[in-house]
Amino acid sequence: MQPPEATILRELLARDGDFVSGSRLAELLEVSRVAIWSHMEKLRNDGFHFEARPRCGYRLQATPRELSPLFLQALLPAETAPVHFREEVDSTNSEAERLLAAGSPAPFVVVGRSQTRGRGRLGRRWHSGDSGNLYLSFAFQPGLPPQRMQSFTLWMGTAICHFLNTSERVPAGIKWPNDLLIDGRKLGGMLTEARVDSDQIRDLVFGLGLNVNGSREDLPAELREVATSIAALTGRTLCLNRFAAALLVRVFSAYREFVRGSHLSEFQELWPLYDTLAGKPVTARQGNLSHTGFARGIDGDGCLLIERPDRSTLRVSAGDVTLEKEAAS
Ligand code: BTN
Repeated sequence: MQPPEATILRELLARDGDFVSGSRLAELLEVSRVAIWSHMEKLRNDGFHFEARPRCGYRLQATPRELSPLFLQALLPAETAPVHFREEVDSTNSEAERLLAAGSPAPFVVVGRSQTRGRGRLGRRWHSGDSGNLYLSFAFQPGLPPQRMQSFTLWMGTAICHFLNTSERVPAGIKWPNDLLIDGRKLGGMLTEARVDSDQIRDLVFGLGLNVNGSREDLPAELREVATSIAALTGRTLCLNRFAAALLVRVFSAYREFVRGSHLSEFQELWPLYDTLAGKPVTARQGNLSHTGFARGIDGDGCLLIERPDRSTLRVSAGDVTLEKEAAS
């Protein structure tokens, strides 16, 4: 059940800047007008601005710029899976794992304002200050065999790139296996972690870090040349709550499509549009081994295909891939 303030916000948002009477809100929540007044005070303290006019009621004038759990909830369709908001957390992936272990029913999403131990692939750290970026972990219990999940992160990344390009005019691409890039710089990263039980994926946590409104100065010096944010690149500061709400809806629907298997034709069509490595010279490193060649897309299992100098094709299922200096492909 959503808090009363989220119900009030939902009603005010639906009126799109028009007044809503106090008695309508009181009726909706089945509480007194005095109770409505105190909910409005709470919303004011959370950064919402209202015009209150006698005989007309309230209308929404301004909303908070930073992440607001109430605003996020009010913007999401009522049937969306629960959102667990954390002001500060070690890692939203770890928090999602703890919630699953404690019996919270999936699906749900953990949204963190900041993380103290945000983590990336291969044990790397994910810089996670409170600077207008998103740290999200989606928890699912797909009950599917692990082989079915091989291309999961690639599909989710593709769906997110398509959302960014089409809904937000952000020209993001995906770098196999888990990076989201703009202009060759890192915009975001995905970290999928699974718990397997008797040959089935019991718990699946899909972590997504996305640099939205953070500025270059917010980044540690070593990341300033390699990372970027939507705001740094486009000069536009996005409404973080509206952006997050639309993104959450897309991620949940992309997951449902994946589980049903109805994503396949869209995946095949979209992957080449967003594949930042396609046709480029790359080196794949797996432990002590490294292989150089030209990237030639992915196969049905999500393995990266590399065409080697002898024209043979190498399938890479894990590891790190770096772009080599461009030569003729
Ligand atoms: C990578 O690029 O290696 C993946 C980075 C994934 C970062 C996100 S931020 C939200 C979630 N919580 C974490 O600790 N990691 C993921």
